[in-house]
Amino acid sequence: MQHYQPIIDSIVKEAGQQADKGQVANYIPELSSIDPNKFGISILDKQGNIFNAGDSSEQFSIQSISKVLLLAMAFSHIGDDLWKRVDVEPSGDPFNHLSLLEMENGIPRNPLINAGAIVVCDILISILKDPKSEFLAYVQNISGDATIRFDEQVALSEKKTGFRNYAAAYLIKSFKNLKNDVETVLDFYFYSCSLSMSCEQLVKVFYIFMNRGTCLKNNNYLKLSQVKRINAIMLTCGFYDEAGEFAFEVGLPGKSGVGGGIVALLPNQFCVATWSPGLNKKGNSKLGMLALEKLTTETGLSIF
Ligand code: DON
Repeated sequence: MQHYQPIIDSIVKEAGQQADKGQVANYIPELSSIDPNKFGISILDKQGNIFNAGDSSEQFSIQSISKVLLLAMAFSHIGDDLWKRVDVEPSGDPFNHLSLLEMENGIPRNPLINAGAIVVCDILISILKDPKSEFLAYVQNISGDATIRFDEQVALSEKKTGFRNYAAAYLIKSFKNLKNDVETVLDFYFYSCSLSMSCEQLVKVFYIFMNRGTCLKNNNYLKLSQVKRINAIMLTCGFYDEAGEFAFEVGLPGKSGVGGGIVALLPNQFCVATWSPGLNKKGNSKLGMLALEKLTTETGLSIF
């Protein structure tokens, strides 16, 4: 068994010594008051051993990390029909940009930018009876953790300032790529972004993507070919216009959120989650990226 405790302890120590921890997101007011000195990291290996350090048990807003979970749920329901509504190319743009959407007739570049996740939410609303509770139940089931919760204050805060998401949704609607009304779709989208999880919970949720679609309790949720595609999209699109940099520095498929979380995985080996609320200019956790670069460089474990 690979023993990850010494490396993650030294990552937490180094993070504490960094003077520049990045900027906490403030365009969602509820997130702006989070302490920038928080830092957590968890690793869960394929055998189910978990290694934790720092603030790994504290819950935070997962934000865009939920886009992978929305994608997984929709993909397992409708299969490859999904790709008629959303593409699989990196955008090279920030997560909330609108220009490509106009040029590409309302088909978002990929499911991991805001516009793409809004279309995936629309798909799920058309399929599910009660999208919010079924989505939360899905996340709780794949992780086997019923304490994963929804933070209503964050969702309300997002709704108040989510002007660019409204703009994206109306633009998509004008191209007839939203079947449900904009308010209903965004209400579900903001809900999904407002789940709270800790690093320990995130690695349990993402275990299915590391372990060929099968969760810690040995239930299967995704076909092997679907897991391949989701991991490929995480690698090429999981960090917006910094996806290349993340692949270059870290070399793992993963996903970030403006709450400061990052989750990444090495297929068949381990899942790792970091939380450090300060972001870099591209909206990805500054110290989280540094931590993961150190982890994969010092252990020699990456997909490359
Ligand atoms: O819609 C938004 O802008 C946020 N709920 C999510 C953005 C996000 O996490 C992008 N991440 N880096």
